[in-house]
Amino acid sequence: MSLFQPRDASASPPSQTAPVDVVIMAAGKGTRMKSRLPKVLQRLAHVPLVQHVLATAQQLQARSAVVITGHGADQVEAALAGQGGALALSFVRQEPQLGTGHAVQQALPVLGDDGVVVVLSGDVPLTQADTLQALIALCAGQHLALLTIDLPDPTGYGRVVRAGDAVQTIVEHKDASAQQRAITEIYSGIMAVPAVLLKRWLARLDNNNAQGEYYLTDIVKFAAQDGVTVLAQKTLDAVQVAGINSPVQLAELERSFQRRQALALMEAGVRLADPARLDVRGRLLCGMDVEIDVNCIFEGDVSLGDGVRIGANCVLANCTVAADAVIHPFTHIDGGAQGASVGEGALIGPFARLRPGAQLGAQVHIGNFVEVKNSTLAAGAKANHLAYLGDATVGERVNFGAGSITANYDGSNKHRTTIEADVHVGSNCVLVAPVTLGAGATVGGGSTITKDVPAGALSVARGKQTNLANWARPKKLAK
Ligand code: UD1
Ligand code: CA
Repeated sequence: MSLFQPRDASASPPSQTAPVDVVIMAAGKGTRMKSRLPKVLQRLAHVPLVQHVLATAQQLQARSAVVITGHGADQVEAALAGQGGALALSFVRQEPQLGTGHAVQQALPVLGDDGVVVVLSGDVPLTQADTLQALIALCAGQHLALLTIDLPDPTGYGRVVRAGDAVQTIVEHKDASAQQRAITEIYSGIMAVPAVLLKRWLARLDNNNAQGEYYLTDIVKFAAQDGVTVLAQKTLDAVQVAGINSPVQLAELERSFQRRQALALMEAGVRLADPARLDVRGRLLCGMDVEIDVNCIFEGDVSLGDGVRIGANCVLANCTVAADAVIHPFTHIDGGAQGASVGEGALIGPFARLRPGAQLGAQVHIGNFVEVKNSTLAAGAKANHLAYLGDATVGERVNFGAGSITANYDGSNKHRTTIEADVHVGSNCVLVAPVTLGAGATVGGGSTITKDVPAGALSVARGKQTNLANWARPKKLAK
């Protein structure tokens, strides 16, 4: 192994613990996506591809990340603004796009000389931080470290040309000889390189090649010329270096990603009816003995307590479900920014809909075609069929009849309905808010309630029934 010898004292190589600066190339167009959206903003598990890359950079505890934008630059920068976390996040523009080497050249002015630069692509979303840490360790502040992989079909990729074990150069597919095209080890597009060396080598690039582009990969031959050791770390995990160029590749990588999440959940004890029929687009926390049936989707932050069972075809977003609750099939819960919560042992669905601000206590029952929004239901409250509870405070053990609703909107403003403990609301009632039903009150079926009902009272507010004896139905007229 030959060590890098600095040519002048002012540009000494960084130490082994050099700060890490990440460069994310995201200027390319992505023609094959056939989309108006810039490629790096296509979403995997609901998150833009480039944001996955940025999240990985955050896990590296890098000092900074520079995103190189070009196609759809305004959109890409807007999507990432404020997403850097502890990273110093900046953007540089590459106009026009003259190749990957030209792209990284644009970032040089904002890169410190003391760091190790990790080059990533905005369209390679699933690289793991530990893989990059290993690459950074390999670079050790002085070598050029490349992440490579053996591919059964290396068509289109840059081939890693070795002499013995030592890496000599990378040849792009279009520039490669037939002999070189037979090489199956390809460059993943990911490298770790000391900034001082990167800067020196990028200054030497030209575009005398098959594509007339400035190739970042040409720095490999400069390293070899300068006697800097080039180390290639081969990964066995194709998913980590897979780039997205087409809707098919995007869907395939989505499945790989979902499979990984499903496996991790099962390793933690979650019982999935079918790991191939689960989609987690966010963070799903599960207690012990959670069971999830097929075709369920989890979005945002969802947590499921011990013993929770989720039936088939449910969508749960931004909500917490307490221990032993059962969510029956086809239930949709979306807590939005406010969140939604389901209490211990509650039974929800089938075909229930919980919206932002639904807060259900222990043993609450919400049945089919019942919608709850911005409402609190205390322990044991029930709305089992065809009902709407919006902007309501519902006491313990209330029974809310089939077809009954809170009329919370007067056309201009929303008002609250308060239903105290042990109230029984019959079927097909309209509670016109603002209104309060006192504890233990009963509302007769078919009532439209516009005034408060005192505790313990029976309130009936509907047309009185009239029975006409021996009623003769009109006769059918002769034609
Ligand atoms: C590149 C590598 C190739 C490697 C392959 C792995 C070079 C010259 N070749 O090839 O060795 O096997 O990745 O996928 O680097 N980009 C810009 N500005 C540009 C050009 C590209 O920002 O001017 C961005 C793209 O948006 C993309 C990344 O750089 O995120 C890689 O570019 P791409 O055109 O996909 O490179 P390849 O030709 O596939
Ligand atoms: Ca590519």
